[in-house]
Amino acid sequence: MKACIIQQIHQPPILTDKPIPTLSENEALISIKASALNHRDVYITQGLYPGIKLGATMGADGSGTDTQGRQVVINPGLDWGSNQAYQAKSFRVLGVPDEGTFADFIAINKKYVYPMPEHLTFLEAAALPLAGLTAYRSVFKRAHLQAGDKVLISGVGGGVALFALQFALAIGCQVAVTSSSEQKLEKALSLGAHYGYSYKDETWTKKIIADMQGVDVVVDSAGGPGFINFIRIANPGGRIVFYGGTHGNIDGVNPQQIFWKQLSILGSTMGSDEDFSDMLDFVNQHKIKPVISNVFGFTDIVSGFDVMKQGSQMGKIVFDHSH
Ligand SMILES: NC(=O)c1ccc[n+]([C@@H]2O[C@H](COP(=O)([O-])OP(=O)(O)OC[C@H]3O[C@@H](n4cnc5c(N)ncnc54)[C@H](OP(=O)(O)O)[C@@H]3O)[C@@H](O)[C@H]2O)c1
Repeated sequence: MKACIIQQIHQPPILTDKPIPTLSENEALISIKASALNHRDVYITQGLYPGIKLGATMGADGSGTDTQGRQVVINPGLDWGSNQAYQAKSFRVLGVPDEGTFADFIAINKKYVYPMPEHLTFLEAAALPLAGLTAYRSVFKRAHLQAGDKVLISGVGGGVALFALQFALAIGCQVAVTSSSEQKLEKALSLGAHYGYSYKDETWTKKIIADMQGVDVVVDSAGGPGFINFIRIANPGGRIVFYGGTHGNIDGVNPQQIFWKQLSILGSTMGSDEDFSDMLDFVNQHKIKPVISNVFGFTDIVSGFDVMKQGSQMGKIVFDHSH
């Protein structure tokens, strides 16, 4: 079968031939129909991720069929453990060092295989698992987002950020977004966002305070010097949740603003099996369709990595395994 592996760090991944996996106890063999890219995959090729195993098949996200022909989607969060509050030390993300979804077939423990939402195509379902899970836990389990909350989602072009936007709109929140790109802001507004601001415009915090009188929840993946803006615009009792640090360390934080406003600063990572199941229920209930930015044939998978490195995507970069 064809598989996309990390052969060498600082080199693009390569397609190679591997034997179709043989099954261990409790495993299912899934014929992958579509897979999707996450920032993690790019970080792995750059050597910026712990536990890289050269020669391993990459890819956390996938949809496909099992040997009975059932349409399925895979939970990429392995061995979360029994504590819902945080993951066990053995927790890891599917795809390096474990054999991932960028292949024609995957052998995976049956407990990570779930029925695919019926309103989604294989391509849409492949876009959902990692980013949908991360967004779901961040906004609902960590920030306890409620209907009517005012929310800011930063860097809305990101795969996780777009799910956060869709989830917040689905329960009736008032949502603002930031982006570096006018086109991405326009797309977010067309999806239902109420306000959009360029985070490169130094006056954006004044604008959001004027438009929304502050926000109750912030969802961020950039960190870096812009993080202090979230503390400024948060209303008393606000929750700031973040799951990434694309823009580097957070500094210049004013402790007085945090404690006086009773703010909660919350970290979040992926999610438990329970979170994954709850996320699928939510997506089914609200008929949410992932926003797909680019579709490439599986044999052209390296082009997807190039798009993510440039940062031009608006939503998920997906691979069609039928060609
Ligand atoms: N902890 C976890 O479980 C988890 C899970 C998934 C992702 N992550 C991390 O979260 C980050 C985003 O992941 P992703 O897969 O959603 O990536 P992605 O699709 O590549 O999105 C990255 C986004 O970051 C935004 N961005 C860049 N610089 C920014 C800044 N200074 N301020 C605000 N936004 C900025 C960009 O938004 P615009 O293009 O709109 O400017 C870009 O679209 C990565 O660091 C990733 O490793 C963590």
